[in-house]
Amino acid sequence: MTKTAIIYSYNTKKTSKIATLIQEGFNDPAIEMINAEEITEDTFLSFDHIIMGVATWFDGELPNFWDEFVPALEEMDLTGKKFALFGLGDQKGYPENFLDGVGIMGEILEEQGAALVGFTSTEGYEFESSRALRNEQFMGLAIDYENQGSMNKQRVAAWIDQLRKEFA
Ligand SMILES: Cc1cc2nc3c(=O)[nH]c(=O)nc-3n(C[C@H](O)[C@H](O)[C@H](O)COP(=O)(O)O)c2cc1C
Repeated sequence: MTKTAIIYSYNTKKTSKIATLIQEGFNDPAIEMINAEEITEDTFLSFDHIIMGVATWFDGELPNFWDEFVPALEEMDLTGKKFALFGLGDQKGYPENFLDGVGIMGEILEEQGAALVGFTSTEGYEFESSRALRNEQFMGLAIDYENQGSMNKQRVAAWIDQLRKEFA
């Protein structure tokens, strides 16, 4: 049976809210919620499909709680696994690094053999540059709580419809 997880830091406010919206949207009790700050390699590798919350902090960097796990990630064989990244960023406050964390994490996962799904259009966003761009799309879902919070529900719902197909 395919195992699916939503992995995010339980200590983040906004990322946690989006993770919960995604869980509610899927409405599937088999999907496990996992705290990124306490994850072990065995737990991580036990999932086939992983939805991962990755905010951008520090002007274009990953939140620091990832520092510990990234070296382990860089040694893993993720062949055959599918990842969908949702990123939180602030396009007005950080227009040159909007959502960079998604690009950083996406590149690491792909390097280890994973497949990324859940790419989305940049229509409706305004920013200067982003490491999360691939062929003019975001390499995941872009959530901007600060400036476009009213669009969160609709963006998450559309993404879940997309993931149901792309995870199939
Ligand atoms: C010090 C600081 C640096 C940030 N740097 C970036 C950035 O480089 N790019 C970006 O898109 N958002 C940036 N943000 C915005 C956060 O990603 C955004 O507020 C996000 O919603 C935080 O989610 P969290 O509270 O779940 O961690 C930054 C926020 C802070 C406070």
